[in-house]
Amino acid sequence: MLKIDNLHASVEDKNILQGINLEVKAGEVHAIMGPNGSGKSTLASVIAGKEEYEVTKGNIEFNGENIDELAAEERAHKGVFLSFQYPVEIPGVSVTNFMKTAINETRKAQGLNDMPAKDMLKLIREKSELLEIDRKFLSRSLNEGFSGGEKKRNEIFQMAMLEPKLAILDETDSGLDIDALRIVANGVNKLKSKDNAVVVITHYQRLLDYIVPDYVHVLYNGKIVKSGTKELAHELEEKGYDWIKEEVNA
Ligand SMILES: Nc1ncnc2c1ncn2[C@@H]1O[C@H](COP(=O)(O)OP(=O)(O)OP(=O)(O)O)[C@@H](O)[C@H]1O
Ligand SMILES: [Mg+2]
Repeated sequence: MLKIDNLHASVEDKNILQGINLEVKAGEVHAIMGPNGSGKSTLASVIAGKEEYEVTKGNIEFNGENIDELAAEERAHKGVFLSFQYPVEIPGVSVTNFMKTAINETRKAQGLNDMPAKDMLKLIREKSELLEIDRKFLSRSLNEGFSGGEKKRNEIFQMAMLEPKLAILDETDSGLDIDALRIVANGVNKLKSKDNAVVVITHYQRLLDYIVPDYVHVLYNGKIVKSGTKELAHELEEKGYDWIKEEVNA
């Protein structure tokens, strides 16, 4: 599904990613960990196609197609979802109406007509029940006065509604209380299928107890310096990153 080959990327002339190789297949869950400033969010942004980031070398393939040159919106229409992609506050536009627009835009890009209102309502009901989101929340103005946890929940709701092929969740655990963490993780697990894939960026092994990854990668200085199974996350929790830095610098 996703194939990243020798990816180098910079932002404001600063080289951040320095040769990333990563392959994510349909049905897989990958976790990316690593110290602050190692390039995790940058990698997520580059995959999603955020404009500030420049790919200087290497390439990104999505379902066999090179997507380097595509705008973020086009990638989204192809099924790439990045949490925090739509962090804007839109007073007067409800969570639901924003979602309706986003879904119909995607359908339009795929040459489909608007989703019939009845189907849309059904989808909203289904997904909000799945994520234990109440009706009141759905009618609130997008991101206006949302707490950290509410923002995260809204992101997962967006993901659930859009049903992306590849979902990249950047630090979904930060700011969630225990119940919300469980709900979000349950949501991700329920949405998982053999046809889609998830990349979770996290600092905490705790999240990976809920969303169990097939692979764990450690990013350090813009490179993936170690990959393993979920046991690697436990090892990191226990020992921190120093031993990895030492291995790399040895
Ligand atoms: N838009 C930007 N402008 C300037 N520097 C940037 C920008 N985006 C990222 N950087 C720099 O790139 C480096 C990697 O940042 P990034 O956000 O990818 O790290 P991270 O691994 O996500 O860290 P954290 O764990 O703290 O979230 C940092 O040194 C950061 O300051
Ligand atoms: Mg980050």
